[in-house]
Amino acid sequence: MKRIVILISGRGSNMDALLNAGLPARFVAVISNNPDARGLATARDHGVATAVVDHRAFGDRGAFDAALAAEIDRHEPDLVVLAGFMRVLTDAFVGRYHGRLLNIHPSLLPAFPGLDTHRRALETGARIHGCTVHFVTPALDHGPIVIQAAVPVLPGDTEEKLAARVLREEHRIYPQAVRWFCEDRLLLDAAGAVTLRKAAEARGALVSPPLDA
Ligand code: GAR
Repeated sequence: MKRIVILISGRGSNMDALLNAGLPARFVAVISNNPDARGLATARDHGVATAVVDHRAFGDRGAFDAALAAEIDRHEPDLVVLAGFMRVLTDAFVGRYHGRLLNIHPSLLPAFPGLDTHRRALETGARIHGCTVHFVTPALDHGPIVIQAAVPVLPGDTEEKLAARVLREEHRIYPQAVRWFCEDRLLLDAAGAVTLRKAAEARGALVSPPLDA
């Protein structure tokens, strides 16, 4: 069974979705940069070991990332999963976990990398928004894409309503991506292309507003 470490910074709802998904994996630790992250208590309720590496205790990103990597490596993970982990990582850190570091981002990348994705989707008048699971590479929120889910932007949407609609999909696609990794079906090749072995053919399309509107 694959050994997985999850990194969180706050609420931890994606972490909770992963812990509840019945994955063929051992969640060996949940680590947070934020001692007050709500998700730490949730992880403990699941019987998962937790640790805090507080970024405020370090003088620069390099020192923090080195301490974080040391804590991660103690657990000898096959996969490191960023689940609402809100720190920018150094190239050295990202390189250390090449091909075994996943992130979830609340937009249809490459649209809206960075913060405030739901507000920016509303401001630009996007009709379709969503979320993306990708392998992490040094360019922030630009790594090779594993899976995406799209949701319509509806009349009267607020940032909160849209975020909730996207979050429901995050909780579906992240466990799916991690399951593929655990089943050895997900590969990142040297050219940076993602292959999903034995994938079913994609069907259908999401059109928003609907064609018969
Ligand atoms: C999620 O929406 C996740 O996609 C986002 O933070 C939220 C964390 O929620 N991540 C990023 O924006 C990373 N750039 P959670 O703690 O409840 O999973």
